[in-house]
Amino acid sequence: MLSQLKLNDFRCFESLELEAVPGAQFFIGDNAQGKTSILEAVCVLLRLATPRAATLVPLIRTQSRGFAVQGQFGTSRMQFYFSPERKKLVLDGQEQSGTSRYLKVARMVYFGNTDLDLIRGGAEGRRKFLDFLGGQIEPLYRGTLRAYERALRSRNRLLKAVPVRRQEVEAYDAPLIETGETLTRLRRELVAELSPWVDRSHQSIRADTGDIPEMLGLAYEPGAGKDFAGKLAATREEEMRLRQTLAGPHRDDMAILLDGHAAAVYASEGQQRTLALSLRLAQAGLLDAIWKTPPVLLLDDTFGELDPQRRNALIAALPTGSQQFIATTRLDWLQTQPAGPVWRLNERRLEAIKT
Ligand SMILES: Nc1ncnc2c1ncn2[C@@H]1O[C@H](COP(=O)(O)OP(=O)(O)O)[C@@H](O)[C@H]1O
Ligand SMILES: [Mg+2]
Repeated sequence: MLSQLKLNDFRCFESLELEAVPGAQFFIGDNAQGKTSILEAVCVLLRLATPRAATLVPLIRTQSRGFAVQGQFGTSRMQFYFSPERKKLVLDGQEQSGTSRYLKVARMVYFGNTDLDLIRGGAEGRRKFLDFLGGQIEPLYRGTLRAYERALRSRNRLLKAVPVRRQEVEAYDAPLIETGETLTRLRRELVAELSPWVDRSHQSIRADTGDIPEMLGLAYEPGAGKDFAGKLAATREEEMRLRQTLAGPHRDDMAILLDGHAAAVYASEGQQRTLALSLRLAQAGLLDAIWKTPPVLLLDDTFGELDPQRRNALIAALPTGSQQFIATTRLDWLQTQPAGPVWRLNERRLEAIKT
């Protein structure tokens, strides 16, 4: 677990230090007080990325050159400095040249306040959801994804050149197919592994709220089709016209099915919120099962739109023994006493209101 966290020039905080406890801790405060910033700092420290943005640049405090996050996780000392010019990664006092040792330290699930987009929004959000999980399970995942994205970028650049040189584009088919097929396989396996967890998580929140039973499942929809090379060949003429690669895992999607129907159109808004939570809980359950230790859970205003019953059902469904950072504007809906310290954030300062 994370026992200590320190930020410098991270979003709204010039500097902030926090002692964390096992189990739950609550951060309450009005809007724009820094709740999300604290959770996002935990995420960046542990995973070197945020599911909320494509790059880390917007996290640098305005007028600053870079941010630093550091903390103690179990016996590991983690330090990360980031600026557009320079990144520095230190684990137990040793500067790291790669990310693999550092990223082995901790796993994490981020329950965001825009998770409804997982159900209703475009495929990109669902790919990000899979990638963030895949990178925490399969060592091959991150590297394969990066290699595919590199090949895709190069190939698209060539497709945009005037005049297009067909042979040069075709020279990129092989690396694109090789990395694309591996990524397709990894994502297919991941969706298959995750799907029963999604249904199980859904059952557990649903049982507590008395909703009618439904079967929730996931289906992988590969943008590479069944035969990537064949699909690439079949779309060649259209690619030349539209000047971009049309087939491949960058077009992947994951169908979310409630009793076999697409949840985005079939499920009610309340059901969709429960589904989104089930997807996150499933990530937590799968990571817990694989690593034999629960991931750190970040819950960012996840409760805003939920009725009190569902809020309490969610709290009850979180993996036992997990460390939880819970941000919310208020706590009066809790059925029991908060099971951990409560911090109030006011003017970017932390004030303990329950220890
Ligand atoms: N890079 C940044 N530099 C300075 N302030 C920022 C930066 N990014 C966000 N903020 C500010 O941080 C404040 C706190 O944001 P946030 O952590 O999202 O608050 P909360 O989750 O409590 O509503 C907001 O006022 C926001 O404008
Ligand atoms: Mg927030």
